[in-house]
Amino acid sequence: MLKKVLSVGALALTSALIVNAYAQEDTPPTPAELATAATETRQAVFKLLAFNMAPISRMARGAMEFDAELAERNALRIADLAPMIPEVFDVYDTREFDVDTEALPVIWESQPDFAQKATDLRAAAITFAGIASGGDRNTTIAGIRAFGSTCGNCHREYRVD
Ligand code: HEC
Repeated sequence: MLKKVLSVGALALTSALIVNAYAQEDTPPTPAELATAATETRQAVFKLLAFNMAPISRMARGAMEFDAELAERNALRIADLAPMIPEVFDVYDTREFDVDTEALPVIWESQPDFAQKATDLRAAAITFAGIASGGDRNTTIAGIRAFGSTCGNCHREYRVD
């Protein structure tokens, strides 16, 4: 009898622990946690943009051997990433939160223009990829400035200097 009571008690305790564990996992993230996650996600998009842009910039400076195929491939990757920029900012407005960010609050007051700047980047990346696909070193190198300036065009207005 005692054994049975103990085991029922143990079962109840175990169930309570399991329910509690699930309850903890099910606790929705706080708004502050969501804001931090959203900030990290958008910064990851920019890190990938920069990762793909870096070799193209090095080619422009003569710090890396010209490689038309790599330039075309990376430009097409940037064209694919560009539409994610307004998406990740739309997902969560972090203005009210103490997040570690260089994004200016005005982004959320100028979303159409902000999105247009990402569209400009995509268009420039596609144009540049087309030039690079021709394989000619001089025209490709000459096309980098117009492409790269679309990054700066957005930073000038929407990122901390
Ligand atoms: C539509 C606007 C826009 C465009 C286009 C844009 N950026 Fe940015 N970029 C931003 C904003 C806003 C931030 C600040 C994000 C933050 O800190 O939350 C940023 C941040 C960055 C960062 C810092 C990321 C980090 O580690 O926190 C890098 C690097 C970067 N951008 C590179 C680029 C490159 C390279 C391009 C072009 C291929 C580009 N960006 C195009 C708006 C833009």
